[in-house]
Amino acid sequence: MELKARIMGHLLVVSLALNLGFVYRDYSIGKHRQAEDYLGNENECKNSCRVAKRDAHYVEKAVLEDRSSALDDEVIDLDLGDPTMYEKYWKQMGDKTTVVIPGWRFISYFSDVKNICFFLESELADAIVRLHKLVGNAVTQGRSIVVGTGSTQLIQALFYATSPANSSEPVSVVSAAPYYSAYPSFANYLKSGLYEWGGNAHKFKGNKPYIEIVTSPNNPDGSLREAVVKNKQAGILIHDLAYYWPQYTSISSPADHDIMLFTVSKCTGHAGTRLGWALIKDEEIAKKMTEFMVINTIGASKESQVRGAKILQAVADSHENNRGSTKSEESNSFFEHSFNLMAHRWKILSNAVNQGNIFSLPQFPSGECSFSRRTFATQPAFAWLKCEGEIDDCERFLRKHKIISKGGNYFGDSPKYTRISVLPRHHVFENLVHRLSTISSS
Ligand SMILES: Cc1ncc(COP(=O)(O)O)c(C=O)c1O
Repeated sequence: MELKARIMGHLLVVSLALNLGFVYRDYSIGKHRQAEDYLGNENECKNSCRVAKRDAHYVEKAVLEDRSSALDDEVIDLDLGDPTMYEKYWKQMGDKTTVVIPGWRFISYFSDVKNICFFLESELADAIVRLHKLVGNAVTQGRSIVVGTGSTQLIQALFYATSPANSSEPVSVVSAAPYYSAYPSFANYLKSGLYEWGGNAHKFKGNKPYIEIVTSPNNPDGSLREAVVKNKQAGILIHDLAYYWPQYTSISSPADHDIMLFTVSKCTGHAGTRLGWALIKDEEIAKKMTEFMVINTIGASKESQVRGAKILQAVADSHENNRGSTKSEESNSFFEHSFNLMAHRWKILSNAVNQGNIFSLPQFPSGECSFSRRTFATQPAFAWLKCEGEIDDCERFLRKHKIISKGGNYFGDSPKYTRISVLPRHHVFENLVHRLSTISSS
């Protein structure tokens, strides 16, 4: 009897639990439906519904305000031009750029002993030539390709290769201000007897040898440039074309200079691959650069080269395979995608800056791009922001608002300017725009 009563008791508890479970399920489904109704069907919304809708609005507002105050607190570090913006595109491309390298490959120091740059992998050379031909941004014919650990190493190889050998004093390396802030360190770091930093090319005087670096589009201000020192007989020109790609500027014609530098860091965003290339007309200069590379690092990593080749081929494939396809397929082509991203970023950035009179940005001329057939103004990788009015130190001003940038003095210019990268990941850029528009409209 006692056992029967116990079993009955257990059954009662189980049944109660089940019922409660069903009641809770119906309750939550009902709530969920109600929430959907509030959001979905305006006409059927009665009084109680309106109250709930108002409450939902306040909850949403509180969440947004909470998120926004968390964003206001975040330090936005855009001092460097780390091109992480490109990460998302390459993730979407999945295995198209995956490289598998068997353990036996790249045992040797050599790639092709018949080539001036004997450590250049032929697949990379082919990919470089193919991409320049497709984009139409540089002449490769009649040039030697020298590959390096980023264009950073190649610039230093060029200083070595183009300095006069028997000069009694170091040759001056100059560039028009505002110039890329790393050039002075590249030139002075080793205290070379061959070359030294000579500063702003606009101020270079005297009838003596010099090396002028022409960066176009320029880092930091995005301007399109030509050499400024008017003494062609005595000078060597290095054209740093890291940003001469169609997501940043219209391609007017294939660049046809004696010394041209490119890098995957800014072309495809693979800064960590550490790969750059130089297109060199004069074989003697290419040989001396190779000599520098041998003394410095005995060449450039072949793993990086093969990865770089795969990425450059994927970029070219993305255009050639999508030719004549639908608009949405075409927008997956690398330069199409990155052009649209840059156009969007510059639009929202300019809107934020133009909300008040605190900041200004440079104006860029428009040109027709022979690659995309679009007419557009340069949309550089950096914003060269000027603080107007009484603000003398723009970097310091932004730092107070938790934005880390690089002040104008690093680039040989006034501290009224500061440089901000336009290439960070999406959420960092959105946060920057939000912060700048708050400052502008205050
Ligand atoms: C104009 C310019 N040249 C060269 C470099 C160096 O690039 P890399 O990553 O290939 O060393 C940079 C990097 O920001 C740059 O802006």
